[in-house]
Amino acid sequence: MKILVTGACGYKGHVLVPKLLIKGYKVIAFDLQWFGNFLDPHPNLTIIKGDVREINTIPLDGVDCIIHLSSIANDPCGDLDPKLTWEVSALATMQLADKAKRAGVKRFIYASSGSVYGIKDELQVTEDLELTPISEYNKTKMVAERVLLSYDNDMTVQIVRPATVCGYSPRMRLDVSVNLLTMQAITNKKITVFGGDQVRPNIHIEDITDLYIFLIEHPELKGIYNAGFENISILDIAKLVTKFIDAEIILTPSNDPRSYRINSDKLLATGFKPQKTVLNAIEEIIEKYNQGKLKNEDKFHNLIWMQKTILNKITH
Ligand SMILES: NC(=O)c1ccc[n+]([C@@H]2O[C@H](COP(=O)([O-])OP(=O)(O)OC[C@H]3O[C@@H](n4cnc5c(N)ncnc54)[C@H](O)[C@@H]3O)[C@@H](O)[C@H]2O)c1
Repeated sequence: MKILVTGACGYKGHVLVPKLLIKGYKVIAFDLQWFGNFLDPHPNLTIIKGDVREINTIPLDGVDCIIHLSSIANDPCGDLDPKLTWEVSALATMQLADKAKRAGVKRFIYASSGSVYGIKDELQVTEDLELTPISEYNKTKMVAERVLLSYDNDMTVQIVRPATVCGYSPRMRLDVSVNLLTMQAITNKKITVFGGDQVRPNIHIEDITDLYIFLIEHPELKGIYNAGFENISILDIAKLVTKFIDAEIILTPSNDPRSYRINSDKLLATGFKPQKTVLNAIEEIIEKYNQGKLKNEDKFHNLIWMQKTILNKITH
């Protein structure tokens, strides 16, 4: 099977692509490489530095499956340049789906986001609840989902709404909660927690990447799946970090007291079982840091990196 992975040089892509290659798949890694490229060469891997907005540059000949990860990947980054966010995350997804249909691609796996629900009072946020996305990022995800679902008769569409991902990747993200708090503890011996009571769902990077492979192997699982297994408060995440590092937790007032939760029973009923936890992620990040394989670099913080290096180079 030949798989096109967009956003393959991102945080998830750097863990997913090697797993796909181990499984024997042929992979085209298509990415603008905003944060660099650390994928090792492999005979079954073709790496293309390209922009998903330039639809004619995306090779789909012989592609059986698309795993679509490229996007402006969080709320503050999405707000920096809303036009860019809509072009990359929604418009390019629509064009890719259309081109995929014409090229006879039969499988399309999409990385949406658990944030499409917005803020819900319900304690069990299941796939059937109404979507009330708040930010540009969330809205583009919702629109992209709906576009893809309209191609349901042409290909198998599998949409994942992941929780916030945690754990180590060679292209690290230190702007996601567990990773951020762990790095603060390592480098400052202090963890600053805004508010603290806000509940956030989490998923380990090994589990979310295993899930994309699980979906490839289970084409009968069509439609939308939440993917998040530990709904825990930010303060509790900080406390988990202090199990490994002697760090002071500094609580400061937050102007964003909202909680997000997701329920993944639908996914668990398919037989998919997460293997890792937030605790594992914290432990692994500390280990990589101590081994000298991870540093607190600006390019691992999407917002800082986009403001510093990317925005002034963007063309609409
Ligand atoms: N990491 C999380 O916590 C999380 C949670 C839920 C959903 N997601 C979604 O999963 C996907 C992957 O997330 P990630 O954490 O790996 O993000 P990431 O920011 O590390 O990776 C995104 C990749 O997309 C690429 N990209 C951006 N614009 C592009 C364009 N125009 N053309 C080609 N490539 C482009 C970037 O270069 C980057 O490598 C995203 O769609 C994100 O919204 C992530």
